[in-house]
Amino acid sequence: MEDRSRARIRILFVCLGNICRSPLAEGVFRDAITRRGLEDRFEIDSAGTGAWHAGESPDRRMRETALRNGVSLGDQTARQFGKADFEGYDHIFAMDRDNLHDILYMDPGGEYSHKVRLFREVDPEPGDYQVPDPYYGMGDGFQQVFNIVKRTVEELASRLIVEYKLE
Ligand code: 4NP
Repeated sequence: MEDRSRARIRILFVCLGNICRSPLAEGVFRDAITRRGLEDRFEIDSAGTGAWHAGESPDRRMRETALRNGVSLGDQTARQFGKADFEGYDHIFAMDRDNLHDILYMDPGGEYSHKVRLFREVDPEPGDYQVPDPYYGMGDGFQQVFNIVKRTVEELASRLIVEYKLE
């Protein structure tokens, strides 16, 4: 029988384009888990509800902001969220309410709704519970997104470690 206690915990971050917010969340979460020596306990990915940027690397501005803050986004490639992800992941974190709505719309029976949440539900300073979309914005929008994602990921990692008794 499969040993569920050692099964990888499968985490998926979802935004609109999968080139800014969710790749950042994926990279920052992977960094947080790796620093704790827990990288072999997790499977981590990100996806977009839209397909426009499928196949692309994360946005250069997001990659540069992440690097300035000590996080490499690695060799991520954008892809579209699909129904198979409901079975493929244990926790699905939406970056904003539109993403949440679009994900839940693909599960009309609500079979998987228990897996799907707004990412910022665990943010200690949740604001409006959404990660703002920096794509068309000016100024330090990317740094603001980094700060939100970093703070939320630290709390998320701590909670998962307790929930799954990883330490
Ligand atoms: P993301 O940002 O959802 O954080 O990846 C966006 C990237 C691209 C577009 C919108 C948001 N776009 O419309 O192309």
